[in-house]
Formats: sequence, structure tokens, C-alpha cells
Amino acid sequence: MVDFTNGPAPAGFLSPQRFEADIYDCEVEGAIPKDLNGAFVRVGGEWFYPPSRPDDSPFSTDGYISSFRIRDGIVDFRGRWVQTPRFRNNLEARKQLYGVYRNPFTHDDSVRDLERPYLATVANTSPLAFGGKLYALKEDAHPYEIDPNTLETLGPWDFDGQYKAQTFSAHPKIDPVSGDMICYGYEATGTCTDDLWIYTISPDGQVKSEVKVKVPYVSTLHDMVLTQKYFIFPVYGYVTSMERLREGHLHWAFDKNMPTYWGMVRRDGDGSDARWFKGPASVVMHTINAFDDGDKVIVDAPISDGNPFPFFPQVDGSPWDPVAARHTIRRLTFDMASSGDSYVEQILDPTDVVDLARVDDRFNSLPYRYVYSSMNDPEQPFDRDRAGNNRVVNSYFRYDLQTGEWRKFFAGDVHSLQEVSFIPRSANAPEGDGYLIGTASNYADMRTELVIVDAVEMEQLARVYLPFRHTAQVHGRWYNNQELPLADSPIPEYTGRRQT
Ligand SMILES: [Fe+2]
Repeated sequence: MVDFTNGPAPAGFLSPQRFEADIYDCEVEGAIPKDLNGAFVRVGGEWFYPPSRPDDSPFSTDGYISSFRIRDGIVDFRGRWVQTPRFRNNLEARKQLYGVYRNPFTHDDSVRDLERPYLATVANTSPLAFGGKLYALKEDAHPYEIDPNTLETLGPWDFDGQYKAQTFSAHPKIDPVSGDMICYGYEATGTCTDDLWIYTISPDGQVKSEVKVKVPYVSTLHDMVLTQKYFIFPVYGYVTSMERLREGHLHWAFDKNMPTYWGMVRRDGDGSDARWFKGPASVVMHTINAFDDGDKVIVDAPISDGNPFPFFPQVDGSPWDPVAARHTIRRLTFDMASSGDSYVEQILDPTDVVDLARVDDRFNSLPYRYVYSSMNDPEQPFDRDRAGNNRVVNSYFRYDLQTGEWRKFFAGDVHSLQEVSFIPRSANAPEGDGYLIGTASNYADMRTELVIVDAVEMEQLARVYLPFRHTAQVHGRWYNNQELPLADSPIPEYTGRRQT
């Protein structure tokens, strides 16, 4: 029996639905550009069984992958659970066997494995297409390979044994110059270890380099950023320890007294020359982009001064600070010719933004101009009578780093947008010429909508309606039919008798 009545599972739009779905020929309003041929792939999670404790993090929800397959103006939708060992064990037991977020000591005796914590992954964070294959990622385990058409789980993948770290980030980077993937694992040799292992992998799946470094302290290395010369890693105030885990706590707590470190690791080195620059406390859960400028390295990121996640407690017991949780777009400048360990941090604009920013990926690691993300534009209406007291992220924006210009797209007065993805109009189109795509939660009609927007004019081109509210997304991304071997969706099968 599944009973959420006493559990902390979210109510309303985000309450668990627990079904898999196939929608053939979705309802479309407007005109989807005919040159779009690919899939918008989302990875997120929901509780199939309630969490074992009410204070667990939503980051422990069971992984779920979904795809809006788009071609020739039509859309087919599919959603499937990621079949991790944890998911299968829970199904077999018909209950939640696992404890709180990334704490192996809190799992049921039948599944506790302190030596192999990655067996408890939920693969619920991010999709990745690389080398023609699709994966669901979470930073505590290896990638889970997914069939890009059926969304069937094929299992964990370690690049034929070449990838040695126990963990793999949810935010690897694809170098647009070489085509290689830069990926990494932190806590690479086991729970709470200070090992960061960085890999460069070619599109045919061959590991070209392995670089091992030690971090200043064990922290949430959720995202990185790349230039043509450097791997760059932020280390910031989320802390952990084996002692903390033995006491039964969630993996992370926030220590506002811990400094931020930025690790600069040369891509052509062996890690021995890694430099760690030091600055004030902050949180850099996600980055935007970086590039080399002579002897300087420029890093852009949405940065907050404090803890953005209320479910990760403060180590000093102080209450969560929603003001310190706000993100602004900041530019950091590192002088690699200096011998010091400081850097310059500049707030480019005071606007409060969502930290899920994107660029035109063809400019990843290179000088670039446009930042895309989402925000709650306070000048736009929200109909609380129809939409309830929900989280509101009502607009996408394009921020022009050259001119400071903001352009916005408003999604509607009962909607909240999830992460945006940028699609170039063509392989050779200028930077920023293309489309934005992402899902919106329609709280009034309790359904999920896919939004497609002209990325220059910031006007809607099409909207796709799912006839239900869909699992919460963590990250979503567009992949075209060159990046994944996408087939046309077959007509739904019929095996019964036919009228003659
Ligand atoms: Fe992320």
C-alpha cells in the first residue's frame, strides 16, 4: 500500500502521479518550426514510495525521464521511470527501503552498502546526449544509459571500464571546438572523500585524459565551467563528514563561514599545478560560461551569498535566509599571471534570477554574448485565485552581456516556467539566432505545457499541451536528430481483429 497522507510528498501540482505515459500526437497551438527535428528531454523525479523521513530532500525522489519528440511540426510524448537498483529494490519490497539524501547509514539493512553508495542513486538530475547515446545523470553514481526512443533503462555505463571515478557529474561539458566531453566525479573514491577526478572523453567513447586533484574541503561540486585552457571548479559552503552521516543527517549542511574556492586546473596538465583561488562565502550551484582573455580567465555564474535550499540545514542552527538565497548574474575575473589567490567578483545586474541559465552551447568555453534563464518578473500578473499560492517563475529572459539589454517572454498568469534550453536555428546561424524551449506548469488547468519561443524576438511560436501535470523537472535539454539516433514515433500498436 502506498500512503502519502503522513509523508512530506508535495501536495497540489507536484504531488506524485506514479504513472508512465505515452501521448501520441500531442495537442499543439501555433506552429512549431519545421526545421526542428529532435527531442526535448527532461530528467526529474517524484516519490514512487514516500520518503523514509519527513526532512528528506526532494533530491532523493525516484528518477524519471521524459521526451517531447518533435519533427515536422508534430509532437509525441513519452515518460518512463529510470530503473535504478534502488527503484527495483523498492518495487520488490513494495516500500521505501532507503534513508535520507546520500546517507548510506540510514538505508534499510537489506540494501545498506557503505562500500558502494552509488547503488542507491536515483538518477534524477539531468539528461546527457553524447556520442549518439542518451543518459540520465546524478552526481552520486555513473550515468544510466537510456534508449533515446523507448526511454527504456539500459543500465549504468563506465565507458568500458575506462571511467574509474565512482561518481559522475550531472553537468559535464561538451567542448564545441574538439567535440570532446569533459566530465568529472567528486567524492570520486567513496563517500566524503576529497578526490576530484576529471576526464576528457572523445565522442567515440575513448577516455583521452584522467586528471586527479584534491579539493580544499568536501563540498557540492554540482557544476563546473570550462575554458579552452582550464577546467574550473567552484567549492562552496555545503559541508559534510562521515561523522555527520553516522549521526543520520542529510549529506549536506550549509556553513556560512566557509570560504568559496575556485579551482583552476590546466586542461593540458596532470593536476599537480591546480590553483585554488579564495573568496567570500557564496553558493555557485550552477555556472553560465567561461573563457580565456589573455592571462585572465573570465567566469560568469548566477551566484547567491547564502544557501538556496531550505531543506539543507544551516550548521549553526540558524533559520534559512531567503534573501541570501537570491541569485544575481556575476562575473569573476582571475588573473592567472598573478601569484596571489584572490579574484575580482562583479555583480553584472542586480536582478533576482533563477540560477538555471543557459548559453548557445556552440560558444561554451569561448567568448560569448547572450545569457538565457528565467525569472519572476514582478511587473507581470499572477492570478492566485486560479493558480493558488504556488512558486512563480513567469518569464524567460535574454540578457545581452555587450549592451546590458534585457528581453523577456512572459509565459502566462497561471504559469511557472522550468529550465530553458536554447536551440540554434542552424549549425551556422549567428550566436543567439534560434529558439528557446522548455516546460511550464499551468497551475490553474493542472497540466504541463511545452513552450517554444523565438530567441531573438522573445515571442511565442508554439505551445504543446500535455493532458496532465507532469513530474517535476530538474534539468531539461534539447537534442537534435544529429545528436541522438531518433526514430519517428510508431503508430500505437494494435494487435486485435480488424474490421474487413
Ligand atoms: Fe544542476
